[in-house]
Amino acid sequence: MNFIVTGGAGFIGSHIVEHLVEQNHSVTVIDNFHTAKLENLSRFRNKIEILDMDILDYEKLRSVVKNADGIFHEAALTLVQESFTKQKEYHDVNVTGTENIFRLAKEFGFKVVYASSSSVYGDTKKIPIREDAERKPLNPYGNTKLEDEYLAEKYSKLGVHIIGLRYFNVYGPRQNIAYAGVITKFLENIANGKAPIINGDGLQVRDFVYIRDVAKANLMAMESKVNFAFINIGTGAALSINDLANIIIKASGLAIKPVHGPPLEGDVKDSQADVSLAKKLLGWKAETKLENWLNETVQQIMKN
Ligand SMILES: NC(=O)c1ccc[n+]([C@@H]2O[C@H](COP(=O)([O-])OP(=O)(O)OC[C@H]3O[C@@H](n4cnc5c(N)ncnc54)[C@H](O)[C@@H]3O)[C@@H](O)[C@H]2O)c1
Repeated sequence: MNFIVTGGAGFIGSHIVEHLVEQNHSVTVIDNFHTAKLENLSRFRNKIEILDMDILDYEKLRSVVKNADGIFHEAALTLVQESFTKQKEYHDVNVTGTENIFRLAKEFGFKVVYASSSSVYGDTKKIPIREDAERKPLNPYGNTKLEDEYLAEKYSKLGVHIIGLRYFNVYGPRQNIAYAGVITKFLENIANGKAPIINGDGLQVRDFVYIRDVAKANLMAMESKVNFAFINIGTGAALSINDLANIIIKASGLAIKPVHGPPLEGDVKDSQADVSLAKKLLGWKAETKLENWLNETVQQIMKN
């Protein structure tokens, strides 16, 4: 099949591209390299087409997507803290950019699997969170993801096939350190012999899902018969940030203790996915065990 991946040079996008190449699909990457690195694609660069392009450039986008069988839409501005100070930019890229993809899907008839986020939920009354929980984001980034869901609902009624994958905390190789999630930040500190810095009391829990599992979920969603859904993509397990720090420190063998900083504005208290819908609709389930991956990765880091 002929697939396009927007944000395909970024963290999650590049793993989707890699998985598609492994499955012998033809892949075109659209990315404006805002946060992306070309080296994310280096191992399979000769097997794909890479276009340095902005998803806000509608006419250019239109000329490229015409013959696509499907689009994986990952391009977005992704920093919760930055979204408080750059609300217009976040709205432009995350909402207008996403609507561009949905509009073109309506015109040309391809299916869209796109990156929604667990941030659409905000602080829920109970965890694990089911897809029908109330959506009340706590920050402008989450608001853009919720607006995208409203757009997805609208375009699905117009006949477009759209699946929004609500990723929980995705971890794994190729995360840009400047834009990284908590696991990458803790590992970076450990690599430099420094203590992990925990935002707040560290009692908050997260559902960490491995990047290759996420890439597989994307293709399974594209190939599924499902025409419209929002689906949680997590493991169904929760780990506190304190426990995460302690696992990493223990695996490193370093004699250090985590340091606590102030809590982050707009950060949810607890996040854990109910993953039964992903199993039911896509036959997908996360396979990678976080603790195994952390132990192996920390050992690798300590060897270098
Ligand atoms: N990483 C996570 O844990 C997580 C969790 C929930 C949702 N998401 C969503 O998953 C998607 C991918 O996130 P990621 O973690 O890989 O981040 P990332 O920053 O690595 O990827 C985003 C990509 O989009 C590109 N981009 C940004 N603006 C663009 C524009 N105007 N035109 C074209 N390309 C543009 C960037 O250069 C980058 O390659 C995003 O939509 C994000 O909101 C990520």
